[in-house]
Amino acid sequence: MLKIENIQDYHQRTKHQPERYARSLGYMDWQNQPNPFRFYKNSKRLDLPLITDPLPYKYASLYVARSIKPQPLNLSSIARFLELSLGLSAWKQYGASEWSLRMNPSSGNLHPTECYLLLPGVDEFPASIAHYNPLLHCLEIRYRFDDEEPELLRHGTGFGVVLTSIFWREAWKYGERAFRYTQHDIGHALGALRFSAALQGWGLRFIPEVPDGSLDRILGLTDDTQVPGETERADCLCWVSNAGAPADGMFEGLSEMNPPTYLDTPNRLSPSIVDWPVIEEAAKMCESPGYRRQVAEMTTESMQKRSLHNAETVIRQRRSAQAFDPRSSSMDFTSFREILTATLPTAGAPFDVLARSTNVHLFLFVHRVEGLESGLYGFIRNAIDFTSLNRSCSGTFLWQRVEKALPLYLLQPGDYTAAAESVSCHQAIAGDSAFSLGMLARFDSLLTEAPWMYPNLFWEAGLIGQVLYLEAEDKGFRGTGIGCYFDDVMHQQLGMTDKEWQDVYHFTIGMPVEDQRLQTKPPYHHLTQLRGGPDD
Ligand SMILES: Cc1cc2nc3c(=O)[nH]c(=O)nc-3n(C[C@H](O)[C@H](O)[C@H](O)COP(=O)(O)O)c2cc1C
Repeated sequence: MLKIENIQDYHQRTKHQPERYARSLGYMDWQNQPNPFRFYKNSKRLDLPLITDPLPYKYASLYVARSIKPQPLNLSSIARFLELSLGLSAWKQYGASEWSLRMNPSSGNLHPTECYLLLPGVDEFPASIAHYNPLLHCLEIRYRFDDEEPELLRHGTGFGVVLTSIFWREAWKYGERAFRYTQHDIGHALGALRFSAALQGWGLRFIPEVPDGSLDRILGLTDDTQVPGETERADCLCWVSNAGAPADGMFEGLSEMNPPTYLDTPNRLSPSIVDWPVIEEAAKMCESPGYRRQVAEMTTESMQKRSLHNAETVIRQRRSAQAFDPRSSSMDFTSFREILTATLPTAGAPFDVLARSTNVHLFLFVHRVEGLESGLYGFIRNAIDFTSLNRSCSGTFLWQRVEKALPLYLLQPGDYTAAAESVSCHQAIAGDSAFSLGMLARFDSLLTEAPWMYPNLFWEAGLIGQVLYLEAEDKGFRGTGIGCYFDDVMHQQLGMTDKEWQDVYHFTIGMPVEDQRLQTKPPYHHLTQLRGGPDD
């Protein structure tokens, strides 16, 4: 029997409240900790080269459409694209435990996102369907189109990227709220992939026309080859191209494509699992039937950036701060302004990935920004939503615009350090920073019409989060995504009483305090040992 009737019910029941967290096991079941790496047994591995010649482009260029000359499509450029988006960024060690980090962040470092490529023939290699294995930095070739490749892969101007989620990886720790985290992680992965594509002068966009179910079929994710309880579901298809946007109708045949017969099998991730049926129900409820791309309202705000840092350096050094030093977390106003401006949707990377207009706005707790009064602020990323937000928020808010060129409004001055911490599940990183924020997404009216937009709200929030991570690094600060927050406490802070706007993510930026007990190792120091090695 269904426990939820619509996707709004899922959201409601998975809110953390100060007196009760969303349902989860409540302890860490270390015996069953899921393997963060997927392997396909019986697939053929194609080792990818690691980058030896960083591209010279500046970080600021990533945001500016057509500012980087497109690289040719070949195995080494595809390898660079994957290494700088979903590849490993470092290993950390503390005592006997060792864990890897990746270019893309992930809630709890659990990495539910998997990546598959629909590849045309490249470098003498035939068209194929491959899984990217970030541990070995290789493609696991799941299927080769030796006889006849699908129409889509004959164009030779691009390739497909399908992102999937393994819910159990997040549910192991977070229980029912895990579906939200898998979708945040998709958003971050989309951002990481989009920036990596931009570095090579490539486009990357989400193709909403293809229904979710047909992607599962094409990847064989509905087969009985899946490990029970470790369900993996396709979230989106993106098209990467070095020659402009995909042509109209290019993806029409994909839904009817005969799925290949796969001979490989995915590895088991945990000895045993705990079932959280509400997650499958939620995923089913927001399965997309396919819809048309419809982007409007791109901002014309200028994206003048001062950054002189190399793009690859910024991408590689992205990390989450575990703690901030409040005494050195003060940020200059120019950096603050640039960080916020970078989150505005423009016609360039990364927000051109999305297929619908902006639905997410920022509400900031400004603690330590030079020349800016501390307090609660609204940053309205899409002018159309101003009236609705203004109406939903407390009638006592000032809505005082800070600068003509920036849609930032002072709502209420004051010291919000304690409020920011307590709304973020009492995490000190939300109050010790220069500023922290909550992301409010259009909710009831949107989801009643189109429940499949629910994941999109988290993708947009994740994309904003990815921008904030890189911006923080570029300005000499550090960021951290915050998935643990008390939803309705934030709504109360803003005086919101209906569900037209709902809090979907938090973020914080400040000056990090490094944990001196941790040792750091290079990302692929293990490769010589593992390549050609075991299957799981
Ligand atoms: C969606 C999401 C939610 C997160 N929530 C929290 C959080 O509530 N508290 C926290 O300290 N870190 C949080 N993080 C940071 C992750 O723990 C971090 O990304 C992960 O450990 C990997 O480390 P890295 O970002 O340095 O690569 C979150 C990250 C993401 C992407």
